[in-house]
Formats: sequence, structure tokens, C-alpha cells
Amino acid sequence: MSDFVGIDFGTSNTTVGVSTAAGEARLLPLEQDHQTLPSAIFFDFASKSAFCGRAAREHYLAGSEGRYMQSLKSILGSSLIDEKTRIQSKSMSFADILGVFFAFLKRKTEAQLGRDVSQIVVGRPVHFVDGDEAADAEAQRSLEAIARKEGFRDVAFQYEPIAAALDYEQRVQREELVLIVDIGGGTSDFSIVRVSPQRSGAAQRKDDILANGGVHIGGTDFDRALSLARVMPHLGFGSKTADGKRNLPVHYFYDLATWHSINFLYRKGVTTDLRAVRYEAERRDLVDRLIRVIEDRHGHTLAIAVEQSKIKLTSELSTNVAVPYPDWETIAATRSDFDKAVGSAVQRVVETVQGLLVDASLKAGDINTIFVTGGSSMVPILRQGILSLFPNAKIESGNLLGSVGIGLSLDARRKFS
Ligand SMILES: Nc1ncnc2c1ncn2[C@@H]1O[C@H](COP(=O)(O)OP(=O)(O)OP(=O)(O)O)[C@@H](O)[C@H]1O
Ligand SMILES: [Mg+2]
Repeated sequence: MSDFVGIDFGTSNTTVGVSTAAGEARLLPLEQDHQTLPSAIFFDFASKSAFCGRAAREHYLAGSEGRYMQSLKSILGSSLIDEKTRIQSKSMSFADILGVFFAFLKRKTEAQLGRDVSQIVVGRPVHFVDGDEAADAEAQRSLEAIARKEGFRDVAFQYEPIAAALDYEQRVQREELVLIVDIGGGTSDFSIVRVSPQRSGAAQRKDDILANGGVHIGGTDFDRALSLARVMPHLGFGSKTADGKRNLPVHYFYDLATWHSINFLYRKGVTTDLRAVRYEAERRDLVDRLIRVIEDRHGHTLAIAVEQSKIKLTSELSTNVAVPYPDWETIAATRSDFDKAVGSAVQRVVETVQGLLVDASLKAGDINTIFVTGGSSMVPILRQGILSLFPNAKIESGNLLGSVGIGLSLDARRKFS
């Protein structure tokens, strides 16, 4: 075999890397010329077909009748993975739905390479699930079973930050101690690795990995925090019953603000329950909006608007959230609103990095380079929080959405050649 395949199945974006026997690695185009595929699926009810990636989002946003799903990686390691959901007349588990996505990746990869692909290295976060090793192992088992069921016979795993280190190692000139920072949609992952041009080809690198760590916090958590802080109050979150005695139940708002829970609000009975909530509410006008968003199946449209605002707040100090209802008042969000909303999550990520240094018995000054990758590494408050721990290190940026996929293909070459 002349080339080796790595799959970075991300919470938000997926890539497929291919490396040659000579060790040259590239990303495959997965959707037209795009080398990233949004980790999204849309089951279109009219045509009874499934769309992945940008096409999924486009069909959903165009108002086609169907079911849209995104961030399904977040379900790995939870009991939801085997839960059945109805897609028209079919009952599918979330694992089956992820199978549809992996089948798409396999077809695309095989079409590009012109051969069957049965051996892959799949990336995994350092922790799928925080503080629960059994659930974490189960998450990897589920992912392996999904890939095998679609015909990948040989499935190996690698930590996503180690894969990013392999990508970075392609460009180093001398030995360095590097902290890999990979902050994605679902998780923040870190490794402290000794990289060197001489050792890059070695089969066994255990001794070069000084520490791995991670926490289940990423961009989708920042989306949720921003939504709860700035958008959900316009739908009644935080308001009271008319007698002033109780807050409205919060779980509807949490589900609507959480990518992988939005569809739960479309289950039978939810809007009926919400009418009872509305009846008691002080601000019936706001609860009416919540009901309308659910009835219109606009939950993901709202989440997409919030995510776009979050991304805007990386480069700008304020923005308006483009909600799909022109009759609502303008919903503004500022950088400082965002920083406040994500403050405790950012603190936990920074503490994870500090813990990693302790685990490796290293001081910040021992780290030569910080290699930064993952879309959420752009979030200013988080970037500053991490980088300020290492005032003397050199900062290197990877291909934000592609380093892990490239590195996984390099790992596939080591594992399968
Ligand atoms: N400029 C930006 N500012 C802030 N966040 C951004 C920016 N660009 C992308 N993001 C966020 O980055 C996340 C996606 O990053 P990435 O593709 O690295 O994640 P992933 O690999 O899918 O997730 P994971 O590795 O955690 O499973 C999304 O939450 C997205 O909103
Ligand atoms: Mg990632």
C-alpha cells in the first residue's frame, strides 16, 4: 500500500489526512474543494436521503423538512449513544447516525484514492468523558465499532494532540520541548512532547511524550454560555412565574443552547408542556418566542447565529446576534459579555494546562514552544490565559482545522507500514 489514512472526526469539523510512504501528508477535499467537512448530518424527509457537511446545513437552513444534527461526538461515552430516535419511519440509534457520517467519509476517501480503504487511524481526545475511565473507554469502543461496521477493518486510535505534534514535527530544525494546545469544538487537549527531526521516524515514541491532558470544554460550551447569557433571556430564561414565586424551569433553555440537545425539544409533548409553563409565566410574550422557535424547528438556526457571533467577537468588541426573527428586538453581545460568560470554563482549561506541567514535573520555563491548533484556540481570553503562563516560549500556529488530520495520517504511516 502506498498511502496511509487518518481521520480526525471532530465535534464541529472533520478532516481526512493521507500520507505517502515517503511521509508527505495532505488533506483530502471532502466537499467540493473544502478540506474540512462540518460534522453535521441532515435527514431530508422529502427525498428520504441523508446529507453531510455543508450540504446538511444548507438543506436545513433552506427550510427543507427533516432532522438536522451536529456535535454528535459529544454523545460518545454517554448512554445516549444507543438511544433510538425516529427518523421518519426508521428507528435509528445515534451510533447508526454516526455510521451514516462514517460511510460518507469512507466513500469520499475511496473515491479520491481510487482504492478500498480498510485501515485507518482515528483521532480521539485525551478524555472523551472527564473523570470516568469506564465511560471514556466505552466512548472509544463505540467509535471503533461504528467505523468497523462501515467497513474499516483495521481501526487504530491516537490522541489528537499527539497527532498535532506529529504535524508540527515536520517543520522543526532541532530538538524542542513543545506544548501542544488543541482547542476544538468539544474538548481542550494538551500534550507535552519532545519533537526532533532525528526522532520523527522512530516507531516507538513513548519516551518522548512527557504528559497528556485534556478537559471536556470547547467551542460548543462557549456557544452555550453565550446563548444563555445573551439570547435565552429574550425567550424567557431567568424570568419568573406571574406570582413572582418561582423561576421558569431552566432545562428547556439549556437544551436549546446545547448543540446536541436541541432535537430533544422536538419530541412529542414538549410544546404542550411549554404551554403550561407559559400559562403561569409572568412574561408570556417571551415564552411564546421559545415555543415558536421549537415549532419552527429553528433551534439550530439560532445556535448557528450564536456561534457566528462568538466568532465575530474574536476580532470585534461587539456584534448583534442574527436571530431568525426580524420582529424581535436587536440582541447585542459584547466581547466583555462573552468573556464573563465563559470565564469559569476558561479558568478550568487554564488549570488543566497548569496540572499538566505538574504531572510532567516541569516548569513553564522548560517549554521551548507552544504549538497552537483547533478553531477555539482563537478565542482571545482563552489564548491569553494559556499563553501568559509561558512568557518565554515561542508561539507556533498550525493549520487550525487541519493539523490533527495531517498528523493522524503520519501516525497511520508509522502504524501500518
Ligand atoms: N475565529 C474563531 N474564534 C472563536 N472560535 C472559533 C473561531 N473559528 C472557529 N471557532 C470555533 O472552533 C470550533 C471548531 O474547532 P475545530 O474544528 O478545531 O473543532 P473540532 O476538531 O471539530 O472539535 P474537537 O477536536 O473538540 O472534537 C467551533 O466551536 C468554532 O465555533
Ligand atoms: Mg479537533
